[in-house]
Amino acid sequence: MRFKDKIVVITGAASGMGLAAARKFAAEGATVALNDLKPESLEAAVGSIREAGGNAVAIAGDVADEAVAEASIREVVDRLGRVDVLVNNAGVSTIQPATDYAVWRRTMAINLDAPFYWSRAAATLTMIPNRSGAIVNVSSNAGFAAFPGDVGYIASKHGVTGLTKALAVEWAQYGIRVNCLCPGLTETNMIKQMETLDANRFVERRRRIPMGRIGKPEEQADAMLFLASGEASYVTGLIMNNDGGQMALYSGFSPN
Ligand SMILES: NC(=O)c1ccc[n+]([C@@H]2O[C@H](COP(=O)([O-])OP(=O)(O)OC[C@H]3O[C@@H](n4cnc5c(N)ncnc54)[C@H](O)[C@@H]3O)[C@@H](O)[C@H]2O)c1
Repeated sequence: MRFKDKIVVITGAASGMGLAAARKFAAEGATVALNDLKPESLEAAVGSIREAGGNAVAIAGDVADEAVAEASIREVVDRLGRVDVLVNNAGVSTIQPATDYAVWRRTMAINLDAPFYWSRAAATLTMIPNRSGAIVNVSSNAGFAAFPGDVGYIASKHGVTGLTKALAVEWAQYGIRVNCLCPGLTETNMIKQMETLDANRFVERRRRIPMGRIGKPEEQADAMLFLASGEASYVTGLIMNNDGGQMALYSGFSPN
């Protein structure tokens, strides 16, 4: 029960690793506030946590809307008293050549603007006054290296690592830790959608995972909980791969 009586906000929590994290935080005693775009899937996620005996509330809205970020954090503070942990997890990806990339602004807004808006709202409205807080940003292996076909994803995820370091050094004085999780290929809707667009998209990448398998959402959730927990009390500004060895493998080599 590492998160007993803690208040945890997670964006993009209706599916994938965000939902896995919400379930684990709730199972360890937290009250979780789940954000996602679609109220119906969000209600189902909240319902499943409550059925398992956890405390959960829905704060639906577009994560990229600055006013939604502010209002959502304010609502959580009004209803639950404060925010102890913020997980900036919501993200989108697509496949488009850079010469024809039509979703740049929207991708940057969801993947990079949003973590800043939500972090700033959490810091100013509750974490700085309380001199305490933990923020976990979700970047990607794409925050370290590029693949072709989604320039916005690559640029925004590199941005998330920079945002993490900037906030970590600026807010350490307030007792706020800011860390960044960089998942490797993980079995979620995002990957299923990409493989629907291009069945061959991850064939080579799957073959080059040193541990020989794709990650599970629960394995990413475990890393989020660690970074948010008291066990990481001296950890801030960390950019942490969780990828079965994908980023450790020298480019161009096969794992075996
Ligand atoms: N799955 C992977 O292989 C992988 C690898 C590296 C990084 N990531 C990152 O992990 C995070 C979680 O993704 P996932 O793999 O669990 O995928 P997912 O698609 O299952 O979850 C993403 C969630 O974000 C929500 N979302 C999207 N746009 C939103 C918006 N504007 N407002 C609110 N919610 C919004 C979606 O509805 C969805 O529920 C993302 O930031 C993603 O970039 C995923």
